[in-house]
Amino acid sequence: MMGEAANLLAKSKFAIAFTGAGISAGSGIPTFRDSEGLWRRYRPEELATPSAFQKNPALVWEFYRWRMKKILEARPNAAHYALAELERLGVIKAVITQNVDDLHRESGTKNLLELHGNIFRVRCTSCDYKENLKESERLEEFVSSKDLPRCPRCGALLRPDVVWFGESLPSDVLERAFSLARKADLVLVVGTSGVVYPAAYIPYIVKEGGGRVIEINPKVSAITPIADVFIRAPAEDVMEELLRKVRDFIENGSRQRERLKTL
Ligand code: APR
Repeated sequence: MMGEAANLLAKSKFAIAFTGAGISAGSGIPTFRDSEGLWRRYRPEELATPSAFQKNPALVWEFYRWRMKKILEARPNAAHYALAELERLGVIKAVITQNVDDLHRESGTKNLLELHGNIFRVRCTSCDYKENLKESERLEEFVSSKDLPRCPRCGALLRPDVVWFGESLPSDVLERAFSLARKADLVLVVGTSGVVYPAAYIPYIVKEGGGRVIEINPKVSAITPIADVFIRAPAEDVMEELLRKVRDFIENGSRQRERLKTL
C-alpha cells in the first residue's frame, strides 16, 4: 500500500491533502468521535452551537480555553511535518483541514485552508472586529483569564472564530476548497471520520473528477469505500516513510529522465 500510495503521489500533477482530528491525535490532542473523543465526554449541543453560547457563554469559553491550553501544550507530529515537506517538494499543492488547532501552520504548511476556523482567533458577536491572539500576543493572558472576553471596539461579547454545528462555513474558504478539489487528480485523506458536511464532500469531488483517493486512518471511515489506497495505521507512524518513498520515486524519475537525455 505504501509503495502504491507513494507512486500515485509522485506521479500526481495536482495533489491536495484533506485532514481531520486524527492527524493531531499523535500530538496528544483528543479527536471528537473516538472512544476518548471530546463528543464522547462532552455534549456538543451544550458547547459548540450558537444557542449554547447564547445560553451560557461562560461555560462555552471555559471549554474553549481548556482546549486552547491543551493545544498549546502540543507540538506538530511527524504527519504534520511530512505534509509540509510534501508541499515543499511541490507534490501537495494545498492542505484543506477541518482542524482548528493551527498545527499545520506551526509545522510549516503554507497553502492552508481552515474550513472550520482557528481556535486562536476570536471575533466580535456584534461588529466585524477580529483578532489573532498569537499575532496580537494576548494569548497567554486570554487563556488564563476567567472573565468573559469583550470586544475592545464595541464592548460586545467575543466568540471563538470557529464554525459551530448548524453554522455555515466561511463561504470564500469553502469555495476555494471545492475549486481545488475539482482541479485535483489526487487527494490524500488523513485522520477524518468523514461524517461532517460540507467538508466531507472534498474526497468525493476529487473522485467524481476522475482523481484518486489515498486514505490514512487506523480505522475504517466513511471515506474508506471510495479510497483507491487505504493505509490502515496511525498517521504519525507511517507518513515519514510515505514521504521517503515519494522522494525516492521523484529522484529515480529525474535520474531516469537524465539518463534518457544522454541516450
Ligand atoms: N492517525 C490517523 N487517523 C486517526 C488517528 C491517527 N493517529 N487516530 C484517530 N484517527 C481517526 C479516527 O479513526 C477517526 O476516523 O481520525 C478520525 C477522527 O474522526 P473525528 O473524531 O470524527 O474527527 P473529524 O473527522 O476531524 O471531525 C470532523 O467534526 O466535531 C466536528 O468540527 C469538528 O472538525 C471537526 C469535524
